[in-house]
Amino acid sequence: MVCEWQIVPATVDMLPEILKLEEACFSAPWTRKMLEAELTGNQFAHFLVAMTRENTDPSRGNIIGYHCFWVVFDELRLMNLAVREASRNQGVGRSLAREAIGFGARQGATRAVLEVRASNEPAHMLYREMGFLPIGVRRQYYSNPVEDAILMEMAPLVLPAESPQGHATGAGGEAISGHVSNPGGTAC
Ligand SMILES: CC(C)(COP(=O)(O)OP(=O)(O)OC[C@H]1O[C@@H](n2cnc3c(N)ncnc32)[C@H](O)[C@@H]1OP(=O)(O)O)[C@@H](O)C(=O)NCCC(=O)NCCS
Repeated sequence: MVCEWQIVPATVDMLPEILKLEEACFSAPWTRKMLEAELTGNQFAHFLVAMTRENTDPSRGNIIGYHCFWVVFDELRLMNLAVREASRNQGVGRSLAREAIGFGARQGATRAVLEVRASNEPAHMLYREMGFLPIGVRRQYYSNPVEDAILMEMAPLVLPAESPQGHATGAGGEAISGHVSNPGGTAC
């Protein structure tokens, strides 16, 4: 089954679904309280979700990915980025990161930074491909399991190429969309 998806700002009612995704994707996931604090109580934080669109009601669907990032004056900080397993390798992660970079640039950010687990090859590849470079190591930064973080930077901030699978038009702030196929024909 092929599902249409779009990127939209997250809302509080999406928290239970975002939490499920967070818990499925990370070995030391943020709690509901942490997610809620980012979504409602952090003036620097922004939250985007990629969600499928139901044909009958385009405003309803399932969350297949989310991205939390901070814009702190001239610096964009990419925080948590996750795509559900069944929808990976189809450009959703790149589109979410690209949208954050476009947003940060519009807000005046001139550089972007992030930390990633040393063993997280897919994320390293994604960020390298987008133009991030490793600039340092934070020893034993992560727990469960304890692991170093690689600090990566993009400076200056440059909007990476669009995902080939997405119909990305997000550089100007409008929603971006694409399609994913679900292995086994599971529901969108
Ligand atoms: C990292 C993650 C967000 C990537 O999302 P995704 O939607 O699968 O990524 P995309 O399909 O947009 O891939 C973009 C690029 O990332 C790289 N990439 C993604 N998955 C990869 C994999 N399994 N192996 C190697 N490179 C990979 C590739 O360079 C890819 O470009 P290509 O398709 O031209 O080869 C996803 O694997 C995920 O949610 N992982 C668990 C949570 C996590 O680790 N988040 C990052 C925390 S910093």
